Amino acid sequence: MTAAGDFASLSDGETFLLLAALVAVIGSILVTTLRTGVPPMPSNSHVAATMLALVPADTRGVIYELGAGWGGFAVRLAWRCPAARVIAYELSPLPFIVAKALQWLSRRRNLEVRYGNFMSRPLGDGAVVTCYLMIGAMVRLAPKLRAELPAGALVVSNAFTLPDWPPERVVTVTAYQNTPVYLYRQPLAAQEASATPVG
Ligand SMILES: C[S@@+](CC[C@H](N)C(=O)[O-])C[C@H]1O[C@@H](n2cnc3c(N)ncnc32)[C@H](O)[C@@H]1O
Repeated sequence: MTAAGDFASLSDGETFLLLAALVAVIGSILVTTLRTGVPPMPSNSHVAATMLALVPADTRGVIYELGAGWGGFAVRLAWRCPAARVIAYELSPLPFIVAKALQWLSRRRNLEVRYGNFMSRPLGDGAVVTCYLMIGAMVRLAPKLRAELPAGALVVSNAFTLPDWPPERVVTVTAYQNTPVYLYRQPLAAQEASATPVG
């Protein structure tokens, strides 16, 4: 029997439940996308490879993947940096469940996918931050990173810039729509400036 035939053989109740589940899944993605302003679109594989190459393979300490999406990039990070602890936050329920399943399937003990809003989590122990967000989210994230990241910490961003923060490097991914990948480094001066009491 065809899939269409299988669907036609469902009872009204089963069809309703199936459609309700579909609406709930799509609705949850839409609602979270409206809330964060960022859809759960994975990095293109060429861009992801460029981002990974900018993360030192011998990184120790914590790597924050801000907005794990479906989890593919977080798993690749954990493979690339075995001495680091990769913590990936995701706010959208369905992508989070898939990313969590990928974490489990990958068996990477240095990967932790967490449900939650990274804007309300401390990031002060981050040696590296990776992200593929959008303009509004980057505008909100920039002051948090400037205030919390330790001196020398790296930020690798797919396509979007952190405002008022000159990148250390920009790599253009010619294999995929000339996408820019930005590498930022937390300077010592910013840390000192944010720690200086006013008045
Ligand atoms: C474009 S996807 C990128 C996925 C993955 N990082 C990659 O590069 O393949 C961005 C993800 O960030 C998530 N996100 C956006 N803002 C967030 C926030 N404040 N807290 C947690 N997740 C967030 C979105 O739900 C979305 O799934």
